[in-house]
Amino acid sequence: MKKDLIYLDYNATSPLAESVKAYLAKGDFAFANPSSTHELGRRSKKVINDTSSYLLNTVFNLKDYGIVYTSGATESINTIFEGADALVYQTTDHPAVIEVANFLKKHGVLCHEISPLADGSINTEEFIKCIHSIKDKSNVWINFMYIHNESGVINSLDKAMKIKQSTSCKVHVDAVQSVCRFERWNELKRLDAYSFSAHKFGALKSTGFTLYKNDLQVRPIIFGGNQQDFRSGTMDPLSIKTIKLAMEDAISGTDYAKMISFKNEIKKIINSSENLEVIFDHQSTSCNTIVFIHKKEKADIIQSIFDMNGICLSRGSACSSSSIQESALLKESPYKQYSMNNLRLSISYQSLEVKEKVLSRLQSVVDKL
Ligand SMILES: Cc1ncc(COP(=O)(O)O)c(C=O)c1O
Repeated sequence: MKKDLIYLDYNATSPLAESVKAYLAKGDFAFANPSSTHELGRRSKKVINDTSSYLLNTVFNLKDYGIVYTSGATESINTIFEGADALVYQTTDHPAVIEVANFLKKHGVLCHEISPLADGSINTEEFIKCIHSIKDKSNVWINFMYIHNESGVINSLDKAMKIKQSTSCKVHVDAVQSVCRFERWNELKRLDAYSFSAHKFGALKSTGFTLYKNDLQVRPIIFGGNQQDFRSGTMDPLSIKTIKLAMEDAISGTDYAKMISFKNEIKKIINSSENLEVIFDHQSTSCNTIVFIHKKEKADIIQSIFDMNGICLSRGSACSSSSIQESALLKESPYKQYSMNNLRLSISYQSLEVKEKVLSRLQSVVDKL
């Protein structure tokens, strides 16, 4: 990355955490196959077990849950929903969910889309009503978006519990954008499965994990040597080690009061232009995400102005931002008319180090808009 570029697209992906960089620079990793029963195999296995125990016991304190490592949340989501008899999800969910649903529909699986409320949050009552209308309730899954990738809106897990308790459905939580995005993000409830993506918090890409209730029956989509409960394939101790390192850095490095005050200063700068407006700006949003619209120009034009001035931010959703599409999120909101005009800026604890530079550069660009 050119030294002078400012990165404000942490919801798309994160640079490697400092501890991960230091670890990789050492170049001395457990390399043996963790399924091998010799000493080197056992060392690799221990690296994996250390990360699993850190996540399950220290970070999440989840008793009776298992962990499966995957190639990322897209694989996790595909695996969880593949065996569903019915699936209920939001119109604004990540493409990983929407496209699985489109696939399942073609194969005769009942799939229902629910619109979010005007503030971008989950419409609990509609979820419940919809599930009640499904005749065979034996294997109904819902996707519950914990923190929305585009809006940063936080959906309390109490809502997910309420849906589960009133309908007995199974709940998968898309927790990809949750790591260190608000103070009590890791206080998970006893829901069926949670998926995370390592590259969103400073670990290596193409790695993720799903936490799942031990009694959950999941049909694998990758078959082979049965290395993990419902996922085959040789496990990679290196990338799994980076999950622990990056998570430790994120947890120790995130000062929520500082993040919120940084976010507020950014919002003030954006709202200082009469053509710009911060939207989805309410109490229940993450400490790192700001969505805004330009009232006259489309997002691609505004994004390129930021880009020319050395600011990397995003239009559209976190991982599919290269395609120019109407924002499903805005289409479903009171800002419908601006559904091609929205941009997203997302920071992390790593941005705090360059706070003053970010604020002055943003102000100088916003003044031109
Ligand atoms: C909310 C959400 N869910 C799922 C995914 C897919 O994650 P991965 O990149 O690990 O496949 C993303 C990626 O942007 C996301 O933001």
